[in-house]
Amino acid sequence: MSEQNPSSANGTTNSAGPSRRIFLKTSALAAAAMQLSSTGSLHAAGKDEIKVGVVGCGGRGSGATRDSLEADPGVKILAMADVFADRLKSNLDSQKTRFPDRVDVPAERQFIGFDGYKKLLECDLDYVIFATPPYFRAEQVEAAVQAGKHVFMEKPIGVDPVACKRIMAAGDLAAEKKLTVVTGTQRRHEDCYIEMIKRVRDGALGEILGGQVYWNQGQLWYKTKQEGWNDLEWMLKDWVSWRWLSGDHYVEQHVHNIDVMNWFKDGHPVRAVGSGGRAHRVTGDQYDYFAVDYEFADGSHFASYARQVNGCANAVEERVFGTKGQSYSTSNRAEIKGANEWKFRRAKKDFVSPYVQEHIDLIASIREGKGLNEARRIAESTLTAIMGREACYTGRAITWDEMMKSDMKLGPSETITWDIAAPEVKVPVAGTA
Ligand SMILES: NC(=O)c1ccc[n+]([C@@H]2O[C@H](COP(=O)([O-])OP(=O)(O)OC[C@H]3O[C@@H](n4cnc5c(N)ncnc54)[C@H](O)[C@@H]3O)[C@@H](O)[C@H]2O)c1
Repeated sequence: MSEQNPSSANGTTNSAGPSRRIFLKTSALAAAAMQLSSTGSLHAAGKDEIKVGVVGCGGRGSGATRDSLEADPGVKILAMADVFADRLKSNLDSQKTRFPDRVDVPAERQFIGFDGYKKLLECDLDYVIFATPPYFRAEQVEAAVQAGKHVFMEKPIGVDPVACKRIMAAGDLAAEKKLTVVTGTQRRHEDCYIEMIKRVRDGALGEILGGQVYWNQGQLWYKTKQEGWNDLEWMLKDWVSWRWLSGDHYVEQHVHNIDVMNWFKDGHPVRAVGSGGRAHRVTGDQYDYFAVDYEFADGSHFASYARQVNGCANAVEERVFGTKGQSYSTSNRAEIKGANEWKFRRAKKDFVSPYVQEHIDLIASIREGKGLNEARRIAESTLTAIMGREACYTGRAITWDEMMKSDMKLGPSETITWDIAAPEVKVPVAGTA
């Protein structure tokens, strides 16, 4: 709901093309897996059926439910949770219309409320999709891993350093338990990005000297308080405007491009300096624009820009410079210029939405017992974004070590209840902290 990604807003997929191709591909996989399981030799393989639950049934939760159904004919949606009954019903109704035989969520497996996810985790499920506002991610995913479920979790995975460290620990536990954890940074599952990074690893850019990453767009949707909504209901419906729920748009959206930066560098920066401000917003407590200079341990620098202001130049992309050339990437497009010229090409018929591919990869990992685990990587990318955000809020140079030691936790310190009041709107002023 929050992201107007150039190629696929809300994870909308090109349904007719990819589905048919994917079904053929996964049917063959399922058949192979069944054959293997008849010999009793493959961990979790032979699982023709993949039982899925969904926590957070809004825009992306509904998109991810559909993506998982499109990814594999064995997927059955068996449980759903949301704090609002109408959101759950809307996701359920729309999936049932499209996939009537593969969506079976009777009243006893519909869970409403803040602890709905706990009840959902008691159900017999293979994997659970988490698409609630980022504030809730760490608590919910931690519980899922403890309950032995495989995980698909949307990005970002938290709004503060405490959440990032919880996800790192949950990822470690998932690795011990051989559970799969895939995250909604779909560029990591997109063919043009995968091919580009492979070339970069093979030396196409030479030594990486630095780059620029952007998520500049117009004003995002927001909701003003309606009659009958208390503060919490309002904030939850307007979550993209509130720092404690979203992490600010710098973290919430730009984490995608920051994750690509970290992917190029195969690590994370050690220091950030930045500036930003708020001039246009009418609700919440976030900034409108950010500019951050990230420094890596090898001395390379990346500039990062994120803006949500109407009438300005927009860009959602990355540029990286090396001793042998430069790369350009955005959804569905990647190229390298210089000594090793290359442009990504693919026949239209071969397109598979990266939002669907994430679930294909996740399901293959469950079936084959591969333990694909993206938890630490997305926790590091989210923490990188938080480091940049804090550099802008405070005006100070913020280091990675400082973030790793930080006990900063946004939002209510106590368990969430419906009577929580909206925080006093205090927009950070750099140079005063
Ligand atoms: N990968 C992508 O390209 C992409 C695109 C859009 C959104 N997202 C991410 O997906 C997540 C959800 O975003 P969205 O756009 O779907 O928002 P949304 O507001 O449309 O949906 C959020 C849903 O979560 C529910 N919810 C809120 N708190 C909950 C709780 N504690 N327990 C259960 N349900 C709860 C809400 O009622 C709502 O239905 C965010 O982390 C966002 O950053 C990712």
